[in-house]
Amino acid sequence: MSRPVRAIIDIATLRQNLRLAKHHAPKSRVMAVIKANGYGHGLLRVANALGDADGFAVADIDEGLALRQAGHRKPICLLTGFHDPADLNEVLHHDLTVVLHSMHQIDALESAGANQSLRVWVKIDTGMHRVGFALEELDEVLRRLSQLSLVPTCLMSHLANADDRDDPYTCDQLEKFQACCQSHPYPRSLANSAGIMAWKETHFDWVRPGIMLYGLTPLLGCDARELGLRQAMSFESRLIAVKPLQAGDPVGYGGDWVCPESMVVGVVACGYGDGYLRHAPSGTPLLVDQHPAPLVGRVSMDMLTVDLRNHPRPRVGDRVTLWGMSLPADEIAQRAGTIAYELVCGITPRVPRLEVNQS
Ligand SMILES: Cc1ncc(COP(=O)(O)O)c(C=O)c1O
Repeated sequence: MSRPVRAIIDIATLRQNLRLAKHHAPKSRVMAVIKANGYGHGLLRVANALGDADGFAVADIDEGLALRQAGHRKPICLLTGFHDPADLNEVLHHDLTVVLHSMHQIDALESAGANQSLRVWVKIDTGMHRVGFALEELDEVLRRLSQLSLVPTCLMSHLANADDRDDPYTCDQLEKFQACCQSHPYPRSLANSAGIMAWKETHFDWVRPGIMLYGLTPLLGCDARELGLRQAMSFESRLIAVKPLQAGDPVGYGGDWVCPESMVVGVVACGYGDGYLRHAPSGTPLLVDQHPAPLVGRVSMDMLTVDLRNHPRPRVGDRVTLWGMSLPADEIAQRAGTIAYELVCGITPRVPRLEVNQS
């Protein structure tokens, strides 16, 4: 029998989260961000679920081609554009949209004698300082594109701090974006999930929700459920051993955690080889048959151990929730000093994904 660890993806919940994004930005088109294998939920599964989106954004050409090969006909935007000019033929052939963000790409388009039917978005750096043209480069970029008969279908930028509703940096970015786009007649795109939910002025023509589609919070200090989001992924496994131990017994590698009294420890079939965070500290919450069962000791590759003192009758085979509807991934992430993006993207390929609520 295979190991009992599973990621369960609720399809109706993905759709409901998309409806919420549309509700917040009713005048914008929605480019659903489904890169990194649909934030770990499965690229095609998420694309199939989100048929009401106006387009999809992915990281690279491989994900774009996978969507086209599966029959998706909506606009597909490659968020980091093209890396190798040799990919441009495939990009054109499959009608993918490339984000242009640096001069070497413009040089490459000029050398390749770019075809005018190539679809491009132009990314401007308004303050993230990762990729994107400097504000003062935009005019030159647009001039060079026009010489190639290329007309951008959108001008975009990306928000660095929108998760913090009180951070004025988003207003700075917005001002810069408006100032540099104002003399150009192209559609615009700025908002990620945090922008959609907290910064109405950033919505423009296309919004680009990612994390909110999966029901995880885009806003610091805000519970996803209070924002009306529902977590689409549950990560589950089962107890594979129940061990009575004595006071003073160390548990797991390094013996970091020591039983404070005579107690029962449960062994769960899930470890960092499945994507559970190795650095999750003792005390990180889990549920065993809905009873709180905090993590104790170090997470190993295939197993982790839990404190079963709150469970009246633990048994091998009991269902374990690593995160799910009643245990937000956001809470686990916070305990482990990370963000839920890392949790869901980190589920490894050996974990089967199951779908529920398809209709
Ligand atoms: C360019 C761009 N737009 C939108 C998003 C979606 O962001 P979020 O998942 O925070 O909504 C991302 C994600 O990293 C991104 O890189």
